[in-house]
Amino acid sequence: MYSARYEYGERNGHHERIDFLTSKEKTSKRKTGILIGVLLALLILAAVAAFLIWFFVFKDADSEATISQHLIPSKRVFSGHMKLADVSYDQKLEDTNSNQFQDLAAKLQGALKENYKRDPLLEKYYTTSVVTAFSEGVKAYYWSQFEIPVRDQEIVPEFSEERVLEALEAGFEEKRRTASRSDIRVTEVTAALTDPRMARNPRAEKCFFRLEAAEKGVNFTSPGYPVAYPCKSRCQWQIRASENSAISVKFHSFHIEDDCSDDFVSIFDSLSPDDSQAITHQCGKRPPSNPLEVVSSGNIMLINFITDTDVSHPGFVAEYKAIPLRNVQRCGGVISNDKGVLTSPLHPSFYPPAVDCKWTIQVPAGNKVRLKFTMFRMKEPGVDTRVCHKDFVEIMGTKYCGELSTLAVTSTTNVLDVMFHSDESDTDKGFRAEFSAYDPKNPCPSKFACNSGICIGKELQCDGWNDCGDMSDEMKCQCGKDQFPCGNGLCKPRLWECDSVNDCGDWSDEKRCSCEENEWRCGDGLCMPQDVVCDNKRDCADGSDEASCKTSTGICSDYSFKCANEECVNKVNAECDRVNDCADQSDETGCDCGTRPYKLNRIVGGQNAELGEWPWQVSLHFQTSGHVCGASIISDTWLLSAAHCFVTRDSANHIASNWQTYSGMQDQYKQDDVQRRPLKRIISHPDYNEMTFDYDIALLELSEPLKFTDTIRPICLPAPSHVFPAGMPCWVTGWGALREGGQKARILQKAQVKIINDTVCNVVTEGQVTSRMLCSGFLAGGVDACQGDSGGPLACFEESGKWFQVGIVSWGEGCARRNKPGVYSRVTKLRAWIKKETKI
Ligand code: ARG
Repeated sequence: MYSARYEYGERNGHHERIDFLTSKEKTSKRKTGILIGVLLALLILAAVAAFLIWFFVFKDADSEATISQHLIPSKRVFSGHMKLADVSYDQKLEDTNSNQFQDLAAKLQGALKENYKRDPLLEKYYTTSVVTAFSEGVKAYYWSQFEIPVRDQEIVPEFSEERVLEALEAGFEEKRRTASRSDIRVTEVTAALTDPRMARNPRAEKCFFRLEAAEKGVNFTSPGYPVAYPCKSRCQWQIRASENSAISVKFHSFHIEDDCSDDFVSIFDSLSPDDSQAITHQCGKRPPSNPLEVVSSGNIMLINFITDTDVSHPGFVAEYKAIPLRNVQRCGGVISNDKGVLTSPLHPSFYPPAVDCKWTIQVPAGNKVRLKFTMFRMKEPGVDTRVCHKDFVEIMGTKYCGELSTLAVTSTTNVLDVMFHSDESDTDKGFRAEFSAYDPKNPCPSKFACNSGICIGKELQCDGWNDCGDMSDEMKCQCGKDQFPCGNGLCKPRLWECDSVNDCGDWSDEKRCSCEENEWRCGDGLCMPQDVVCDNKRDCADGSDEASCKTSTGICSDYSFKCANEECVNKVNAECDRVNDCADQSDETGCDCGTRPYKLNRIVGGQNAELGEWPWQVSLHFQTSGHVCGASIISDTWLLSAAHCFVTRDSANHIASNWQTYSGMQDQYKQDDVQRRPLKRIISHPDYNEMTFDYDIALLELSEPLKFTDTIRPICLPAPSHVFPAGMPCWVTGWGALREGGQKARILQKAQVKIINDTVCNVVTEGQVTSRMLCSGFLAGGVDACQGDSGGPLACFEESGKWFQVGIVSWGEGCARRNKPGVYSRVTKLRAWIKKETKI
């Protein structure tokens, strides 16, 4: 953090101060011995110190203020438009500096203020209104701001759009009745709650642009592009085009922070930032293969660029141009070809708001129509995809919306109607679909016909994957010899049997994973007669038959807990279970770990961790790179992490002073109650192998002990004998990439993953795991740790009420891929080394 802020400041125009320091330093060197030189140097030092103090203290204070502002907004802004009667449109109204603009704007601002006086609550907190633009028709765009002091925060919910709208409508109506000839009559008004950051004054702002779109495309960029945009940018582009045109904007490059609550671009089909006419809100980095391209429904568009992070990203470059309105509205019609392609208007650009299309596909009598969507994305916030009340595609009475990966339909006759509807707000990339005529008597010549009517390669039938999308290719299968026959008729790869994941859907692949009823299953999977258990003889190679026997004292197996006095306790997971098993009570010492003091209100489905949910999680920052690896707290002076974070080609990684550790952190940008500790020492395992990731473990000694709090606590380390059975649900946490190749997270993420059976683990990793590793995740993919999570803990909750660290995030092939679970360092196997180095 510290270094990141420094770097940021440099970019922000403080660079010359640093140059000044170096050149003066040289001067003072040349004149060593001369008193004046020394004095001068001292003066400069003082100035630099003062600057640094100002820089850090001031900046911190500033950013905290913004954070709390977001939590408790004290500003309410509403924006919208007003339609004016009896005003003839004048081109000069487009120039904010013209007298025409200023006169009319002042009148309207006055009228707005008058209207708010009708409601005592609105009047009390009203601060200002600004008319930002006029457009043909004659529409005036405005926003109004209300400021509610902290002491009155509880009335915030009463500031509703309805309330504001009511005051405005009533006010304008009365004006219409009593108006004299010189008064302006407002015949229509809208008001929608608006992010205060988007309320700009075109006459006062720096980053404000008015663009006139023509047929030929012209580029514009975010400030600072391509180096980095400044923090706290508030930029706005008003784009207009001539009548009968629409505006198209294509972002050739788009790379901003991946957290839309901080930095985002929002685009409106209006000249006011009114959510009811938002085309889209976007953030993150877009690959060149998927550029953002939007169109308006008319000849105006507003683009906002808001930034709040001080993490540097390049920003965007976009091209705007005017396109004929009829191209935007042209869609649908009767098609009588045997095959072809349908797309949403202007695909692959976002489709425009407010369009309706209807296609009628007609094929020869006796044939039917098959329609297969190769892409379908019509996602909108707050839409129930079962109802699709906003944008949708409708086929044979069913509405489709959201994101669909497999959508195929077949007609019942030789005619198929496809309807497309987009409303005034939130557009998306739309769809692309291929249609073809087929003979219902032989729907898929030399291919397999899915129930949905689509055809797939014959070899995809009964291969364990749902290729049809409706499972019809996996029903009624003769399972191959490397396949497992599920109870419900599906076939799944044998590999997936007994991996503690319900692959069949009816658990049949997980049922026959134990021995017969009168048998005992050894740790290595061998079945033994039940009576070998606890007979004081070691029958299983791993001694697991004697592991949980109170009576088998004296027998020490891999499963026994060894007390400090060398006695063995044969009970599963005897340590820290609140029961004294060792005569010397050593199994219950050092057990002040693995608990979380906070009561957590779990948000179901959310992946963001709550503050204090994982109090042992640590963020490791390297030099100016910010967060790079995770670690866990195992005592007040020791952290556990992965060796590969430190042993790299760059020897700087192994230097303790290049690292900072942050404990008690949840949000990378919030420092409250976070304890920052530099490292004193890094001990990477001497056997760590850079090629195989074997022994991927490191111990980090802190330069100063942590003070344990509600959000900073150690996790329990399992004894070497601790058993975490396959299928056990555990949690991996970290600020790593949110998806393969993606951005690191700002808020700590959590994911539930299951311990995977070692045999399966070995097969799916093609034998790359050693006994110092374990697999966890899901063979079906979808949930995993990723880049940046390394070194972080895999934690399991034991019935005894404590969290134990079973693994350290180490490696994986990609992230969350099918059959490629995450691989973790196995803490139980490395427990003895931890003890040797730290005495813990
Ligand atoms: N090695 C990665 C890192 O440095 C972590 C990899 C974990 N990958 C996975 N798919 N589980 O952050």
